[in-house]
Amino acid sequence: MNGVPQWILQRRSIRRFTGDPVSREKIVTALQAAMAAPSARNLQPWSFLVVTDRASRAAIAKAHPYAGFAADAEAVIIPFGNKADSPWFDQDMAAATENLLLAIAGLGLGATWCGLDDTLQDRVRALVGIPDGLCPFALIPVGVPAEEKPARTQYDDARVHWETYRP
Ligand SMILES: Cc1cc2nc3c(=O)[nH]c(=O)nc-3n(C[C@H](O)[C@H](O)[C@H](O)COP(=O)(O)O)c2cc1C
Repeated sequence: MNGVPQWILQRRSIRRFTGDPVSREKIVTALQAAMAAPSARNLQPWSFLVVTDRASRAAIAKAHPYAGFAADAEAVIIPFGNKADSPWFDQDMAAATENLLLAIAGLGLGATWCGLDDTLQDRVRALVGIPDGLCPFALIPVGVPAEEKPARTQYDDARVHWETYRP
């Protein structure tokens, strides 16, 4: 892994948390990184909802089949926005979300990207008051890691095509 920035390789999905507090300052720092992301025509279609309330986190955890650990996180960050604001909404939101995850890891915190399909988006909207016209993009439970995962790439030479496609 020579030369690959460690801060990128160190980002892993963290689903166990110590329960230690996460400062508002660190969350804002991570959101500054999120909002440094590229976006088509620099339209920046993103906003972010930060849920720290214990009962709200528990309700969110219960509503998502693969995000039960959100109940034990210190915050759940929900990138959201209006799809009508940009034809490249999903790509822009994904760029911001990855920046957010990288920054969270760089701050010594842990998080996991939890995807939302249409049904889960409806559930999340109802729980946190995001209106119908706006799209919650993902759930990002954040906390102090209680598990360690090795830094790694999943580099696969077979997935790299040079100059032209080869079957
Ligand atoms: C679009 C997307 C949706 C995901 N949804 C979930 C999820 O609902 N619950 C979960 O625990 N992990 C979820 N993950 C995390 C993946 O399982 C994880 O990124 C993958 O296993 C690779 O592990 P790593 O993040 O540690 O590199 C999601 C990741 C992405 C990019």
